[in-house]
Amino acid sequence: MMKILVTGGAGFIGRWVTKRLLEDQHHVWVVDNLANSSTTNIEEFIYYDHFQGFTKGDIKDKGVIEDLFKKGEFDICYHLAASINVQDSIDDPSTTFENDTIGTFHVLELCKKYNTKLVFMSTCMVYDQAQSEKGISELDPIKPASPYAGAKIAAENMVLSYYHAYGLPVVVVRPFNTYGPFQKTGGEGGVVAIFIHHQLAGKSLNIYGDGTQTRDLLYVEDCADFVVTAGYSDQANGQIINAGTGRDIAIHDLASLIAKDASRIRHVEHIHPQSEIPKLLCNYEKARRLLNWEPKVSLEKGIKRTEQWIKASTGKKEASGS
Ligand SMILES: NC(=O)c1ccc[n+]([C@@H]2O[C@H](COP(=O)([O-])OP(=O)(O)OC[C@H]3O[C@@H](n4cnc5c(N)ncnc54)[C@H](O)[C@@H]3O)[C@@H](O)[C@H]2O)c1
Repeated sequence: MMKILVTGGAGFIGRWVTKRLLEDQHHVWVVDNLANSSTTNIEEFIYYDHFQGFTKGDIKDKGVIEDLFKKGEFDICYHLAASINVQDSIDDPSTTFENDTIGTFHVLELCKKYNTKLVFMSTCMVYDQAQSEKGISELDPIKPASPYAGAKIAAENMVLSYYHAYGLPVVVVRPFNTYGPFQKTGGEGGVVAIFIHHQLAGKSLNIYGDGTQTRDLLYVEDCADFVVTAGYSDQANGQIINAGTGRDIAIHDLASLIAKDASRIRHVEHIHPQSEIPKLLCNYEKARRLLNWEPKVSLEKGIKRTEQWIKASTGKKEASGS
């Protein structure tokens, strides 16, 4: 049983990481500034004996975060707190840089001071497009196509430098596009959640550009399983590791799968085509080899589960009048 801090733990992926850690019987603390989330995402955790509580705090606020590290004496910090929107990072790069790079640096410093393993949540958005049919491996070239990617690459490098310079146990994880229950369905959410929401609401499904851009879509519980396992593994220390399904789908095919009716699909002009990655397909051979990790949920099953959750949560909101 370990003591664990999850930053961004009230967010979409963070709440699944927290849930999995609680199911594994660890003592878990969550910190989040709720900039893109709400405590309703984590309200069920009060029923777990080992849940140590939620702190509303910002990772850039050294006092609040150091207090947590001092009291918690954490074995592992899963660092997921970040500004996650590519579009926002282009419109307002400083917020993303401050949260994703400088915020990570603060967390990293505290991990060093309190000898805590750091699992740094990076992203597939740091890659250039797939060079081969086998997909993108950790050895493929990176490209900071947006300030979001640039800020994550900068943070990854700082995190890895603490492994090389100080022997701090760290691991950089790069999940591919993740979807599932609890993801936001508005503009700040992911493509699957937005498409399902529009489908259920009888609205059109808007695709940026021609829709030939592909994504490797990872179901959120598979993502959480990967992230948590990387934290448990000593073999992962000092490594960068990808996770995806090894299958990519063009966005117009995804829209057809969800809409069922082609007349609902619209192509709209891309706002920032220069930051679009044309093909994202994951090669997760390293995660399989090092962590014995494999994705378990197919895209079709994952879409079904997500749809059920969106239907249920929309019903709840309507019933409460919010
Ligand atoms: N969603 C994806 O497809 C995906 C894929 C790969 C990697 N990631 C990474 O996974 C992590 C979680 O992403 P998500 O999709 O769950 O998004 P999310 O926005 O739901 O989660 C991020 C959380 O961090 C919080 N946060 C933001 N800035 C903060 C700060 N300064 N201090 C404290 N909390 C702060 C937000 O309120 C939010 O709850 C991010 O690091 C993201 O870059 C996401």
